Order: sequence, then structure tokens, then C-alpha cells
Amino acid sequence: MVSSQPAIIVHGGAGRGSGERREARLAGCGEAALVGWQVVQAGGQALDAVEAAVATLEDDPLFNAGTGSSLNRDGEVEMDAAVMSGTLQAGAVAAVSGIRNPIRLARKVLEDGRHVLLAGPGAREFARRAGISPVPPETLVTPAQRDRWEESHGTVGCVAVDRNGRIAAGTSTGGTPGKLPGRVGDSPLIGCGTYANPAGAASCTGEGEAIIKVLLAKTSVDLMDSGAGPAEAARRAVALLARQTSGQAGVILADRSGAVGYAHNAEEMPVCYIVEGEEPVTAS
Ligand code: GLY
Repeated sequence: MVSSQPAIIVHGGAGRGSGERREARLAGCGEAALVGWQVVQAGGQALDAVEAAVATLEDDPLFNAGTGSSLNRDGEVEMDAAVMSGTLQAGAVAAVSGIRNPIRLARKVLEDGRHVLLAGPGAREFARRAGISPVPPETLVTPAQRDRWEESHGTVGCVAVDRNGRIAAGTSTGGTPGKLPGRVGDSPLIGCGTYANPAGAASCTGEGEAIIKVLLAKTSVDLMDSGAGPAEAARRAVALLARQTSGQAGVILADRSGAVGYAHNAEEMPVCYIVEGEEPVTAS
């Protein structure tokens, strides 16, 4: 197994500017990055770091994932999540309700290994068998979502590299506000919102329908595989999406050496990254 510099990068969703909530979301990203960083810094696995960081963001009602998820047309929460490792192991869930941390359920799907993506009631039944207790769906609905915030805010995600050169990505979302029941976005679709292979890993945020059409996560990792660094790969992938779809989106990336990068064409995308020997960096 190769040895690497550990690194972690998280995003809190691409969207419109959010004034005073911008600082709070940056702080939330910082806290989640630190939770994941503690895993990889201590020699733990990239997959565990991603799961821990994304679960932290799911539990923060400021973000559109887990508690605080957007409501669909019928006022219900339906969430998507995926996790993938650089060894091509992947697990994802789509349109699930009554699960506090969809990223933990996605990890169970990955570990089970029979399938990559489970949806709806089947995913809930799998959760029960995997020992994940359901929660009353209304506990995931925050007053702010009931009031339908005007500002748009997004998906959460994380990419991590551990000391053994293992790399992983995870993404979790409540999807788009007012979406049709049953709509599935890019986040749980491998190659679209989430991807990892030996060259690197990616987690995306933004307009799922645009992200799906250009396979933004796989496109970004392919650019790294062709020699681009993570920052350049992110910039070129987002430019391609903007050119081909007119959509707004963002992506965070890392390669297995522990280099990280990100880009977006939305008003803002809170990000925090930590690399060995340096202070955490937050930006939007
Ligand atoms: N990017 C999240 C979604 O469109 O569902």
C-alpha cells in the first residue's frame, strides 16, 4: 500500500448568496472537515472520514441533507446519498425518507456489496435489516424548511485521502425544493454527483439535472487521470458543464497524493479543506 499525505475537503452546497447564514455554513463546513480530518490524521480510513464528515453536515439543520432537507412538492423529505472508494466500491440510496443519516445507509449498501443503489421503501427495508433504526420523518423537517426559505442552498459532500493512499467521496442531499415526489438527483448516481477511482475522487453540488447530463464527477476525475491537478480539473469540468448545459454547479476533488481542488459557477459554495501541516482553509 502506498503512503500519502492525508487530506480532506468538504462542501456545503452551491447556491445563491445567503448573507448571515454564509458565515454559519462556513463554520459548519469547518466543523465537519475537522471531524473527518481527525479520522485520517489518526491513521483511519478515507471512507470512515467521509462518512463521519458527511453525517456531521446531515445533522446540521443549516444544510440541505438529513435534518434540514428540502421538502418535495408534497411537503415531504426524500433524500439521496452515495459513498464510493477509489477501489470502485460504491453504495447509494435514493428517495429515502425517515433515515437520519442517509450517508450511513449508503455505506451499508457499499459494505453489503450486492447492489450499488437502493431506492425508496426497499432502501428503508434494507436499513432495518442493517440495524439502522428509522426516525419519524417529521423529525427531519425544520421550521425553516416548512417556511420555504427563499435562498437556495445545497447538498453536502466530502472527499478524503488517508495515509495509505486510499481515497473516497461521499455526497448527501434533500434534493431540490418542491421537486416531484420520486425525483432522484445527481448525488446518488455514480459518476454524476459522486465518483472515486484510483486517480482521485469527486463530490458535486448544484443543479442535479445539469450535473447528470455531463457526468460531472466522472468527468472531473477523468481530467485528473489525464494529468490535470485537482484545481484545474475542477475548473475545466465546471466550465464544460456551464458551456453544455447553462446549469450552475460545483465540485470538490482530491487526487491520491493528497492534493485538493474545487470550483463552482454559483454565487457561493462553502468549502473547507485541511491538508497535513497546514491550517484549515475555508472559502466560498
Ligand atoms: N445536486 C443535488 C440535486 O440536484 O439533487
